[in-house]
Amino acid sequence: MARILITSALPYINGIKHLGNLAGSMLPADVWARFKRAQGHEVLYICATDEHGTPAELAAAAAGQDVRTYCDEQHQIQKAAGEAFDLSYDWFGRSSSAANQRLTQHFAAALEANGLIEERVDRMIYSIDDARFLPDRYVEGICPHCAYPSARGDQCDNCGRLLDPTDLIAPYSAVSGSRNLEVRDTRHLYLLQTKLADRIRDWIDSRIDWQTLARSIALKHLDEGLIDRGITRDLKWGVPVVGPDGGPRPGMEGKVFYVWFDAPIEYIAATEEWAEANGLSWRDWWRTDEGAEDVRYVQFMGKDNVAFHTVSFPATILGSGEPWKTVDTLKAFNWLNWYGGKFSTSQKRGVFMDQALELLPADYWRWRLTAYGPEHADSAFTWEDFQASTNKDLADVLGNFVNRIVKFTESRFDGVVPDGGEPGLVEAQLETDLAAGIAEATAQLEAMEFRKAAQAIRAVWVLGNEYLQVAAPWTAFKTDPVRAAVGVRTGLNLVALFARLAAPIMPSSAAKIAATVGETDLSWPLASDDLLDRLPRGQAVAAAEVLFRKIEDAQVAEWAERFGGREAEV
Ligand code: 2FM
Ligand code: ZN
Repeated sequence: MARILITSALPYINGIKHLGNLAGSMLPADVWARFKRAQGHEVLYICATDEHGTPAELAAAAAGQDVRTYCDEQHQIQKAAGEAFDLSYDWFGRSSSAANQRLTQHFAAALEANGLIEERVDRMIYSIDDARFLPDRYVEGICPHCAYPSARGDQCDNCGRLLDPTDLIAPYSAVSGSRNLEVRDTRHLYLLQTKLADRIRDWIDSRIDWQTLARSIALKHLDEGLIDRGITRDLKWGVPVVGPDGGPRPGMEGKVFYVWFDAPIEYIAATEEWAEANGLSWRDWWRTDEGAEDVRYVQFMGKDNVAFHTVSFPATILGSGEPWKTVDTLKAFNWLNWYGGKFSTSQKRGVFMDQALELLPADYWRWRLTAYGPEHADSAFTWEDFQASTNKDLADVLGNFVNRIVKFTESRFDGVVPDGGEPGLVEAQLETDLAAGIAEATAQLEAMEFRKAAQAIRAVWVLGNEYLQVAAPWTAFKTDPVRAAVGVRTGLNLVALFARLAAPIMPSSAAKIAATVGETDLSWPLASDDLLDRLPRGQAVAAAEVLFRKIEDAQVAEWAERFGGREAEV
């Protein structure tokens, strides 16, 4: 039994997440956690809300709440949405926790003790009316290159040029619109990443298990040359900057660590929160000198997060000089698009987790987003494709198989797994094909090839359908009831097998499907298992009311009307 630590990128606190966020980190992490648990491994799946930074402050202000109250509420909302989607976190923490504050300050002190932190003076735009410094994107003004009137401080959306906020002509605060701005000196802590570049490169070279997307993004950043990185901000909300002794740091009162400095540290801190809540140890998951050397650590995230996890966070960890566990396998995802364009939290474009569940149960979405997700390229979510895959894969291939065989057992075999008869050549061939199908699904899941794994699982369901076509117990029943009994028994065992294969992706439907044949075992099958005679003969079976409903054209029309559809492509 292996010990596997899994983290998915921490969702920002500012509002419930859309399907794109779900598809690119939390859902695949959950599928893989479930797969590994189903194989009998010890899994710890950690996630949390990412609560600091300007977006949290601004979202709270927009909601008319103080930022702590806002985060308290939004954390509960995201936690509930995760549970409703059957995301099986062992702990869903908060980056604003006391544990994360302690640990973030600890890392800063360790880096400073190793000569990797320096105080520098920056010149930044200060808004007198807002009584705050304005981070890059909260200053807007006229682009000095193309005269676009609403260029942001970091970039002009019109000509694409990268900008410094002090370049803008006639700048104003994006927070209040005030033009009462001035440039002021402000002290910040810098992490001297330039000193760490070689160590990071050596460490990346030692990560044999990374996939191409992650490795190429990491190396691109290193090849472009690392720069020293400001890790503090002039904000009120965040982990306070303190001196190396933990006391106030002269000249840096009221400053906090940059959100991307403290957020990944929350992976560790959330494990600490989990351990405390359960009376367990977190150190044997994270400290290689205390048992974590045999842990396999796997991270899931969207491609925009890769540089932070392959360069910035490792700089913190390696620079501390302490024996922390670092990531072994990093699985990165591309973008899920909404028709031709992007999902957008700020513009409320696309479907959000809470809205999705108003339309259909979690498993319909979990299947679509896993089997057709943005894995090796961006992929688009459309109602039409969602309808097609739901109706074919789930209703026709899986649901119909289960209902047909179980209902036939109820009407012709007293609702129990039939006894009698011996498997013949057809069953022997089926068993061989199943073993190959299970081996393929297992290999693809091991490799975190989720789309291919889902197709392999679907292919096993198809084998079952093909078998029933040939065995046709409904016809055999009239002429050869013993043969029919073998066909039905085989079919019912297939139902149990299909549930086990579906369980990591569609846990609640899998439990429902297994229950139709009186099963609760959802462990991952081995190709070598006795697959077709596992159910006790005589065990009662009972069809479920509905497993998967087909999506009607009228529903597609209604949802396209409510959320947007084809017209979103233009
Ligand atoms: O991009 C995001 O959604 C970030 N909130 C991810 C943070 S991951 C981690 F490092 F905390
Ligand atoms: Zn411009």
